[in-house]
Amino acid sequence: MKNIGFIGAGQMGEAIFSGFLRSGAVSADHIFVSCRTQEKADAVAARYPGVCTMVSADEAGVAQLVDASDIVVIATIPQIADFILPAVNKAADPARHLIISIMGGFTCAKVEESIPETPVICVQPNTPMSVLEGAAAIAGGKNATREQIDEILSLFGHLGTAMEVDERLMDAFTAISGCGPAFCAQFVCGLADGAVAAGLPRQQAIMVAAQTLVGTGKMILESGIHPEILKDNVCSPGGTTIAGSIYLEQQGFRGTAAGAVDALIKRMHRVVEES
Ligand SMILES: NC(=O)c1ccc[n+]([C@@H]2O[C@H](COP(=O)([O-])OP(=O)(O)OC[C@H]3O[C@@H](n4cnc5c(N)ncnc54)[C@H](OP(=O)(O)O)[C@@H]3O)[C@@H](O)[C@H]2O)c1
Repeated sequence: MKNIGFIGAGQMGEAIFSGFLRSGAVSADHIFVSCRTQEKADAVAARYPGVCTMVSADEAGVAQLVDASDIVVIATIPQIADFILPAVNKAADPARHLIISIMGGFTCAKVEESIPETPVICVQPNTPMSVLEGAAAIAGGKNATREQIDEILSLFGHLGTAMEVDERLMDAFTAISGCGPAFCAQFVCGLADGAVAAGLPRQQAIMVAAQTLVGTGKMILESGIHPEILKDNVCSPGGTTIAGSIYLEQQGFRGTAAGAVDALIKRMHRVVEES
């Protein structure tokens, strides 16, 4: 089994390595995690027995993580790419290492400006990977072999769905998969508020709203039924659901959801330009 090293144990880095552990795809002794501070490294080590943690606040720390790993996952925010990418490049051996970048808005070509020889694969993950219901988009850089891309597709497949995506479409994918959990959570809160207003206790309202979201997603995925048909099937003539659906459309529900995706893609591009 290969050693997988994570630079950064934030929301996303932790979701991925905890998913690997939970799924059994990677055992704890093959996971290495580096954090910015010793305090965070100690906290991660306490939460994940058997995982080796270290500190990579400087170039030597990054080199230590890279040296311990065969696959290096860069899970820090894009704003510190100017430090992390050259440090990883300096420590990496093109014949041994495979670099995975999960940085939002960063293409393989952009990562390869700093890491020109070691194979790079860009993965856009999402936090539901921690419960093995994630969705990952995967694109190989110029030095990544077919075998390496298939290896990463298989690895991330343990965390939900993993699919190879044309890099030009990566942002559109990420906008839904990476940021979608926040929008879905907002929708759950809205539905729960409505039920609480009608008298249901808060905890029950949140559970039923979340379970309905999970169930609807599963129905769409497992049956292959178009969501429009699924919606029509629930709206009986003269019934209550169609009244609610019309209200949502009067409030611009779909346009608002699509607008949120558009707004975040624009923001993503600004962050990359500024980094
Ligand atoms: N969150 C998502 O749903 C999502 C989805 C797709 C892609 N992504 C991408 O995933 C990356 C991480 O996002 P995130 O949400 O996990 O951000 P985050 O929660 O802020 O995590 C980033 C982590 O990197 C750590 N860090 C900073 N400098 C470091 C260093 N030198 N060595 C080791 N660790 C260091 C930070 O530590 P401190 O807090 O101590 O500074 C923090 O824990 C981003 O590039 C983002 O675009 C995220």
